[in-house]
Amino acid sequence: MTRVKLKTRNVIIAVGCIVVLVVAGIGVFKWKQKADYQKTYEYKLQKQGYSKEDTDYLIGKLEDSDLDKLLTEEVNENLTKIMKEKYYLKKNHEKYLSFNKANPDKSLEDVIAIINVGADKEWYTDYVDTDVEKENLMLTNKFHRLTESYNPEDLEEVKNWYAYGSEPKLRREAYQQFISMYNAAKKDGQDIIINSSYRDYKYQEKLYNQYLRDFGQTETDAMAAKPGFSEHQTGLTVDVTTYGANNDTFETTEEFTWLQNHAHEYGFILRYPKGKEYITGYNYESWHYRYIGVEAATEVHEKNITFDEYYAYFIEGE
Ligand code: DAL
Ligand code: ZN
Repeated sequence: MTRVKLKTRNVIIAVGCIVVLVVAGIGVFKWKQKADYQKTYEYKLQKQGYSKEDTDYLIGKLEDSDLDKLLTEEVNENLTKIMKEKYYLKKNHEKYLSFNKANPDKSLEDVIAIINVGADKEWYTDYVDTDVEKENLMLTNKFHRLTESYNPEDLEEVKNWYAYGSEPKLRREAYQQFISMYNAAKKDGQDIIINSSYRDYKYQEKLYNQYLRDFGQTETDAMAAKPGFSEHQTGLTVDVTTYGANNDTFETTEEFTWLQNHAHEYGFILRYPKGKEYITGYNYESWHYRYIGVEAATEVHEKNITFDEYYAYFIEGE
């Protein structure tokens, strides 16, 4: 073999080897790439049945431990929908999922609201003390209780041209704001009269027991709060009426319509709205207004949510 031929053969062998090495290298690289990809949540979640969009969303939102747990469970098609709900709170994640599973007919919006306010629990059995430091924003409901001795410090006597009943009282700021509201309504030709305002623990006890005797447990609990659980004990609440009306007819009056449009401008909200009974735990009360301050009242009004929901999301939050 001539030198030239020998050289050419060596070159061909060398090139061949390089080609084989490159191809093998690419193969190994691709295999490694695939193996690595198969270890990712992106791969595993999609293999599990989640869409690419849901997978990206879940990876962006959940901790690794939550993702690992997901991989051990069946695909939940409501999962990302729940997480994208307006008032979703991460701390309630597991509760939403199990409540949704147990109540498939309820809308996801309702699932979120019910869990946020604790309305999945039995009334009066699992409650905490009302955080009275929250002042105008304190929450009293079937899961937040005032102690028997709680009395607001700045109660003022309500002048009797604003109210029926004996010795009506309200906390100072709520009273001042009620007067402003009363005057504004009066200018528009409306008469808003207080029927009931501050009620201490003992008074509420009497009232509740009277209801029990008259209506029995179930009806009573939808109408009157147990002592300690009534907003009237906060001194921030008024039941109102107008001339010639009673609780049953108040919603048909112009005063009611006026309050619907203006109460929030003075810091008051309709506390137990129609259609929200499963959240508040009370029948619709067109006459019961709670003072929470203008800013919060405006938000509650504009967002069309109950104070229970507002408190859970905007005050307690995560
Ligand atoms: N009627 C309301 C719920 C109360 O008793 O406080
Ligand atoms: Zn009331």
